Amino acid sequence: MDASSIYARLDDVTLSFGEHVILKNCSLDIVRGAITCIVGLSGAGKSTILRLLDGLIEPSSGHVYVDGHDLCHTPERKLVELRQKTSLAFQFAALLDSLTIGENVGLPLREHTALPDEKIRHIVDDALESVGLRHVYDSLPNELSGGMLKRAGFARAIVTRPELVLYDEPTTGLDPIVTNLITDTILRLRQKLDGTAVVISHDLHSIFRMADYVAMLFEGAIIAYGPREEIRTSTNPFVQQFLTGSEVGPIPV
Ligand SMILES: Nc1ncnc2c1ncn2[C@@H]1O[C@H](COP(=O)(O)OP(=O)(O)O)[C@@H](O)[C@H]1O
Ligand SMILES: [Mg+2]
Repeated sequence: MDASSIYARLDDVTLSFGEHVILKNCSLDIVRGAITCIVGLSGAGKSTILRLLDGLIEPSSGHVYVDGHDLCHTPERKLVELRQKTSLAFQFAALLDSLTIGENVGLPLREHTALPDEKIRHIVDDALESVGLRHVYDSLPNELSGGMLKRAGFARAIVTRPELVLYDEPTTGLDPIVTNLITDTILRLRQKLDGTAVVISHDLHSIFRMADYVAMLFEGAIIAYGPREEIRTSTNPFVQQFLTGSEVGPIPV
């Protein structure tokens, strides 16, 4: 695969917190224009990878590239600029209770741009529309269901039109119907933005519905990676155990 088809890359990343090694010589390519799903056990370091890609933390060694730029050892001002290209939809993204949904979604634009109110309103309406929430601009967060709040969080994450959207467990804890709705929303947003997405998920049904590529993280390294169908039919015993949810296999339970 040539370099231009890779949007982001972890290159031989090691990350430790004190004595605790979280990622060890971890490399991962994020294909431009694709949805890459990362799977792995709880505590494997999945959220940490998203925080690295969003430039919130630096590796202990190795490099993190986004759109060809090395995020490590980058001056703060340049990093702020690069971080505009990515957006992290946090697992427990909290909207501000005292602001309406529309005001919440528009917040990144108020913080990072000098656009006039009218223009912001227009962009926010469009973002809400794209997550299927046309009529909630004036609602308060406590008036929305869990699935609606998730989608409002997505609208806020994409309102600045990031090139790379990082979703941390977007469907964890949601019922199957809302899970499907969220999965479709991620697919739709990827198309709308014509960008790249990384999704952390435990939901196999959802993963195989949206992923172009799947990466499996185990003990700090990517131990399996490939196009969705290749992973689905993989004979790698780690992948098989993960996909079948078996207690028997190389992954200790
Ligand atoms: N800021 C931090 N300081 C110390 N340890 C951390 C920090 N962030 C994460 N960890 C540890 O790193 C490991 C991986 O965390 P995380 O990336 O959140 O895992 P996952 O998202 O796969 O469940 C966990 O053992 C967690 O306790
Ligand atoms: Mg996590």
